[in-house]
Amino acid sequence: METKIFPCSPESLALAKQTIEAGEVVAFHTETVYGLGANAFSDEAVLKIFALKGRPADNPLIVHVHKEYDISPLIDGEPPYAAALRKAFLPGPLTMVYPSTGKVSKYVSCGLNTLAIRVPSSPTAQEFLKAVDLPIAAPSANLSKHVSPVTAKHVFDDFDGKIGLILDGGACSGGIESTVLDCTGEVPQILREGLVTREMIARVAGVCGVYRPKTGERPKSPGMAYKHYSPRCKTAYFTREELEKAVVCYREEEKSGSPCFLCESEVCAILGDYSTLDLGGSPEEMARRLYALLRKGEGEATLLIGVEPQEKGGVMAGVLNRMRRAFGAEHGTKES
Ligand code: TXA
Ligand code: MG
Repeated sequence: METKIFPCSPESLALAKQTIEAGEVVAFHTETVYGLGANAFSDEAVLKIFALKGRPADNPLIVHVHKEYDISPLIDGEPPYAAALRKAFLPGPLTMVYPSTGKVSKYVSCGLNTLAIRVPSSPTAQEFLKAVDLPIAAPSANLSKHVSPVTAKHVFDDFDGKIGLILDGGACSGGIESTVLDCTGEVPQILREGLVTREMIARVAGVCGVYRPKTGERPKSPGMAYKHYSPRCKTAYFTREELEKAVVCYREEEKSGSPCFLCESEVCAILGDYSTLDLGGSPEEMARRLYALLRKGEGEATLLIGVEPQEKGGVMAGVLNRMRRAFGAEHGTKES
């Protein structure tokens, strides 16, 4: 199959609609990362997503809808804070988990009695979702365990010949996946950190928890238990305090291979002549650049050495979660 990459146009949207209605998948731009979408009502179409990605069968999918789509038939009630959160943050990089009415394919939520719903703000995503006017189940458009895609080319690199259409909206401005928020309890609880931060949610809902699975417990967001976002080269990971050790590691690799650092601008400046990939200075910049640099690094280096940025709060919680997991520095979390 030829994999076509088109920007949104009346023709490409008509092709997207026809492809989805035929039970096939379409990759599309969102403001976080590219998604691999299929009709959420169709068992067959949803199963194609799992097969294409090589995704574990116990890792549920997020359903995407356009901003005028009526989600009430899909969800079995909601707590009072949910409406306020929707008003404050949607469309945008926040996924809300509700009690499900079971109307979509049972394969979307993998047997859970909840449903994750997201309203992306990307104009490409909105136009696509409006054209199909269906809930679209979509994980990130990468092969399972690989780094999430933030350009149409990244999607193409993982799925060339395997999917028919990629709706190109350019590079993703957010760069890390949406915040996943459990809205089934008395207070909202973050299952996956992202660009809508705990502080931002607490400002609207009064309070916001962050779920941390206890050792051995099946995580509430099953995806968070998989190794994830991994570049396909060797990796090593150091804190800023361990910079000297990181340099020793670099020199050792240099004897037989081509090492490269991945670190914030300030550390790149200290590292001067060493080969470096610059994550940037602000948390938002680091979120936007992380996945593209992991993919660049795996293509160019034999060993990618991550140096953890100094800042920790707000948006950095999501960036550090992805970075630690990409470098295998955080265990007990997996995703695809
Ligand atoms: O930004 C994003 O969210 C991107 C774009 C494409 O929208 N999508 C994405 O999907 O990151 P995926 O499949 O790579 O990650 C979905 C996450 C996983 O951690 C999964 O376990 C969790 O959402 N999830 C999905 N349904 C859930 C549910 N019913 N309850 C708890 N967690 C759920
Ligand atoms: Mg993913």
